Amino acid sequence: MTQPLIARSLQSLHRARTELGRRNATVALVPTMGALHDGHISLVRLARRRAKKVVVSIFVNPTQFAAHEDLGSYPRTWKADLAKLTAEGVDLVWHPDAKTMYPDGFATRIAPEGPALAGLEDRFRPHFFGGVATVVAKLFTQVRPDMALFGEKDFQQLKVVSRMARDLDLGVKVIGGAIVRERDGLAMSSRNVYLSPEERSAAPVLFRTLKDTAKRLRGGDRLKAALADGAEAIGRAGFVLDYLEARHADTLAPVSSLTDGPVRLLVAAKLGTTRLIDNIRA
Ligand code: PAF
Repeated sequence: MTQPLIARSLQSLHRARTELGRRNATVALVPTMGALHDGHISLVRLARRRAKKVVVSIFVNPTQFAAHEDLGSYPRTWKADLAKLTAEGVDLVWHPDAKTMYPDGFATRIAPEGPALAGLEDRFRPHFFGGVATVVAKLFTQVRPDMALFGEKDFQQLKVVSRMARDLDLGVKVIGGAIVRERDGLAMSSRNVYLSPEERSAAPVLFRTLKDTAKRLRGGDRLKAALADGAEAIGRAGFVLDYLEARHADTLAPVSSLTDGPVRLLVAAKLGTTRLIDNIRA
């Protein structure tokens, strides 16, 4: 197996990118913060099916973490990540450090609106989408991919980067990849490693509740009652709930019944100090 090319400076990235694009080869980018799991790998495989060349970026982006969040402890597993990307035949890994991404004097930040202000993640992490939009815009201009793949687990993020790519004419097609789950239904996330054994066994309640709520709605139950019961079930399992909401799957606007759809159910909740998010189609 051939190890992917690794670029750590803009100069080596641009050289590698020119090489990849020879003979008009299409290029797909999978932006990540490392700590790769099967969810990321499914995006890499989707990228491989859609494009001739696959680039994966690994950059733990400081601007999307608030001061009280887990930037310092975010899992960094470079060797294991590289082994996985080698096994997948990835062509190029873009692995800048913070100084390369945000050199001294850096003073520009994208302020996304629309889906970034839907009142979901933004209500609890107001800094988050500005940081994501800024770094993703930079990744797109640095790598110049034809397409980029993002997991549907971060559903609002997927909407924000799709909107931004269109609004700024970045020429990148944004593609969502289905959520990959553990056998018991827990959505894969780099943050799952934070869960204690007890928390890990309670964690699948989130997905179970989403499924139960969707089933009730499809059976004709009223939205308000189904969401209230779902919230109660999540609380009983030991979570502190941030939100359990039904939103229009395209616009993220609030809905009052399935007929306002397509509808997505979205949840975020804390188990101990770990914050988990998940969503499903209703
Ligand atoms: O979803 C993530 O891992 C990050 O938010 C992203 C898109 C790589 C930007 O840092």
